[in-house]
Amino acid sequence: MTADHKRVAILISGGGSNMVTLAQSMTGDHPARPVLVLSNDPSAKGLARAAEMGLATAAVDHRPFKGDRAAFEAALLEPLLAARPDIICLAGFMRILTRDFIQQFQGRMLNIHPSLLPKYPGLHTHQRALDAGDAEAGCSVHEVIADLDAGPVLGQARVPICKGDTAETLAARVLVQEHRLYPAVLRQFAQGDRTPLVL
Ligand code: GRF
Repeated sequence: MTADHKRVAILISGGGSNMVTLAQSMTGDHPARPVLVLSNDPSAKGLARAAEMGLATAAVDHRPFKGDRAAFEAALLEPLLAARPDIICLAGFMRILTRDFIQQFQGRMLNIHPSLLPKYPGLHTHQRALDAGDAEAGCSVHEVIADLDAGPVLGQARVPICKGDTAETLAARVLVQEHRLYPAVLRQFAQGDRTPLVL
C-alpha cells in the first residue's frame, strides 16, 4: 500500500462474502486498499476469512452493551479510527447505526442492500418482492445517511424473478450480482466518481 491509496474499512456481521470480493478487488491499479475488517460478532465467519487473506481484523461484541447503542459505537470507533479509514464499506453489517455515528463518516460510508432501492428498505427484501409478484429483484449500493437504506444510490444490478423462486433461491441469484456491483462501485467511488452505475 502507498500513502495515496484510499484506506477502506469493511464492517461485517456474518459470512463476509461481500467483504471477500471487495478485498480481492483492491489490488494492482485500484485506488484503494483494505485496512481493517471489523465485526460486531467475534464469531463472524468473515473474520476468519479476512485473517486467511492476511487482512487486519477486529471485533467488538455488541451484546454486552445491551441496546446501549452509543456505548457500543464508542467501543466500535476505537479500532475503526485506529485504522484511519478514508472509506467505510458496510457489507452484511446487521446493526443499526445512530445518526451521530453516521455523521462522522457521512459522504464516505457505503452499504450494499439486497433490493432495488427505494423499494424494500429494511429486512426480508426477497420475500417482499416475491409476495408483491415483482418480475425482477436486485441489489443497490448506496451512501449511508441517518435514515435507514435511504442515501443516494451509487449503483444497482437487476436479476429476474423466476417461476418457483423462494427467498433463498432469489437471495443466491442476487448475491452473485452483489459481488459484481459492490467492487465496481467502490472502485469508482474511491476515485471520487459518484456517477450511478447500472450493471
Ligand atoms: C447479503 O445478502 C447482503 O446483501 C446483506 O447481507 C447478506 C450477506 O452478506 N447485507 P455477506 O455474505 O455477509 O457479505
